[in-house]
Amino acid sequence: MESRVRAGERLVEVGPPTDAALYFIGRIHTPWAERKDCPRQGRVEGPECRVEVFAPWAEALMGVAEYGHLDLLYWLDRARRDLVVQNPKNDGERYFGTFALRSPQRPNPIGLSRVRLVAVERDTLVVRGLDCLDGTPLIDIKPVTCDFTPKAPPKP
Ligand SMILES: C[S@@+](CC[C@H](N)C(=O)[O-])C[C@H]1O[C@@H](n2cnc3c(N)ncnc32)[C@H](O)[C@@H]1O
Repeated sequence: MESRVRAGERLVEVGPPTDAALYFIGRIHTPWAERKDCPRQGRVEGPECRVEVFAPWAEALMGVAEYGHLDLLYWLDRARRDLVVQNPKNDGERYFGTFALRSPQRPNPIGLSRVRLVAVERDTLVVRGLDCLDGTPLIDIKPVTCDFTPKAPPKP
């Protein structure tokens, strides 16, 4: 499901991707199967989404429940990777370089959302604030430690 190219947008020739050897550590379950239904950016008042963490990484969730907010990084697996200039509003007027946009179409289609942690259920996080399609692979989870104080210090 690679997205279309709009009039005036510019692509480059890209060879086969060199394998960055990421581990997909889980899968994100959201209500959105298609791009047209998916929010452009997540909102903390958005719907609850479930972030499934695969074995053996579920153990790495130890301590996560202490945090109110997390940064989630995910692989926008249905994005084009060859667009250098984009026309996000499809108006034929305002063009932007890929690195001046948060568009999913980028050479390394990594998405980042700061989400509110609602619950931790064994190997699954329940969060609000996502904007990705159902089934999007999860790359990493990081607690937000700068702007938000942990709810309680981790137990020794
Ligand atoms: C604008 S991006 C923002 C992603 C992230 N919040 C960020 O700023 O890095 C969100 C959009 O990417 C598209 N998208 C979501 N999941 C995707 C996926 N798995 N593959 C390709 N495109 C996706 C949808 O159109 C969605 O509205």
